[in-house]
Parts: sequence; C-alpha cells; structure tokens
Amino acid sequence: MRTVLVASSKGGAGKSTLATNLAAYFALDGKRTVLVDADRQKSSTHWCEKRAASQTAVLPIDGTRRNWEKAVPSDIERMVIDGAAGAMGDDLEAYLARADAVIVPVNPSMIDLEATVPFLNSLALNPRVKKGKLPVGLVGNRLKPWTSASQQAVSQLKSWPYPVVGELRDTQAYVLMVALGKSVFDYHSEQIRGHQEDWAPILKWLRKTV
Ligand SMILES: Nc1ncnc2c1ncn2[C@@H]1O[C@H](COP(=O)(O)OP(=O)(O)O)[C@@H](O)[C@H]1O
Ligand SMILES: [Mg+2]
Repeated sequence: MRTVLVASSKGGAGKSTLATNLAAYFALDGKRTVLVDADRQKSSTHWCEKRAASQTAVLPIDGTRRNWEKAVPSDIERMVIDGAAGAMGDDLEAYLARADAVIVPVNPSMIDLEATVPFLNSLALNPRVKKGKLPVGLVGNRLKPWTSASQQAVSQLKSWPYPVVGELRDTQAYVLMVALGKSVFDYHSEQIRGHQEDWAPILKWLRKTV
C-alpha cells in the first residue's frame, strides 16, 4: 500500500482539498483507496460520505482514533491522510511513520508562508525526512498566477529546501466539487481539464516517490 500524507499546521492551506482530490484520482485510477481523516472537523469524512454510492467511492477512516490503522482493510492499495490543522511534526509521528511522501500545501500570502516555516522545521526533525528517505513536496495552492503576490510567493517557496511539486490555481471548481463529494478528476469539460493539468507535476512527483 502506498501512502501520501497531506499536512500543514496552517488551517485553510488546502489540506482537505488536496487530500480529497488525490484520493479521487487514485480511486478513478482503479485503486482501492482509503482517506484517513486526522482532523476533528471531518471535512474529508463528509466528502467520502457524499461519494459513498459511487463506483469510485473512497473509504473514510477516523484517523483521530488511537487504533485507526486497524480499520484499514488489508487489500487497500492507496492511503491518503488528511492532516489536522495545528499539528506539528511530532504530533504527526504516527502518520509520518506510514507515509511514503508528504505534500504540504501553502497559500500565497505572507501569513501563510511565515506560518509554514516552523511547520517545515518541525518536519525536518523526523529521522526519515532528515535522511531524505521520506520526500516532502510543497504545493502552491489558491494561486492567482497573474498577480505579483502569487508570483512572489511561488519564488519564495522555490528558495526553500523542499521542491515545489505543484501549483494549483484559486478556483471555485474546488470549492463546489468538494462540497459534492467530487474532484477535478470526475469531470471532463475543457475548463476542468485545465485544472487537471495543474495536477500533472504533483502526480508525476508522486509516481517517482510513492
Ligand atoms: N485551489 C483552491 N481554489 C479555491 N478555493 C480553495 C482552493 N483550495 C482550497 N480552497 C478553499 O479554501 C478553504 C480551505 O481549504 P481546506 O482544503 O479546507 O484547507 P485545510 O484542510 O488545510 O484547512 C476551503 O473553503 C476550500 O474550499
Ligand atoms: Mg481540512
């Protein structure tokens, strides 16, 4: 089983948005997929519930329970973990131990950039991260690529010690789809295909690492 942890201590960074879209991508790719919801707000769990009747349903797991791993069926092929807001590296130990890759979404604002630095520093204390055995990728999220704020934020991200593995635009598509239990991978209009293309570098990076 391959496991991706989506994490940031910053609330509103896009963890649940990325985790649900990624889980849908794996499920649509024919993989038996679980989404471990480590956040008490349960956004990912609600998303799974809305998708439960679909052929590409994703099984929700309550990651706030002590023995959550026991609830993961043995034939599962992909596990996506939606990290909790406020959790630093040491709070994430149990999830990091299971992860094959970590994705950290970052919004293009000074507040978000500054809040992410201590989180990344706390991740760097994890022995596998430190040894380069657990890859960490940054994803610029809610970008408005035509604004200088977004451009500056992305160039700042690129100066950090982890690779920027994707740049996702700010679009209502994510807001609407998550509310419906859907993802950008469930639709095929020209506009949505543009958003799918934004995911191509993230998926390529994951294929190399996961
Ligand atoms: N790329 C995006 N474009 C537009 N809205 C987004 C995007 N990513 C996240 N959002 C919105 O931002 C808010 C926070 O995102 P969420 O995924 O819930 O963050 P987190 O799980 O890190 O707290 C939500 O209302 C979500 O719909
Ligand atoms: Mg969330």
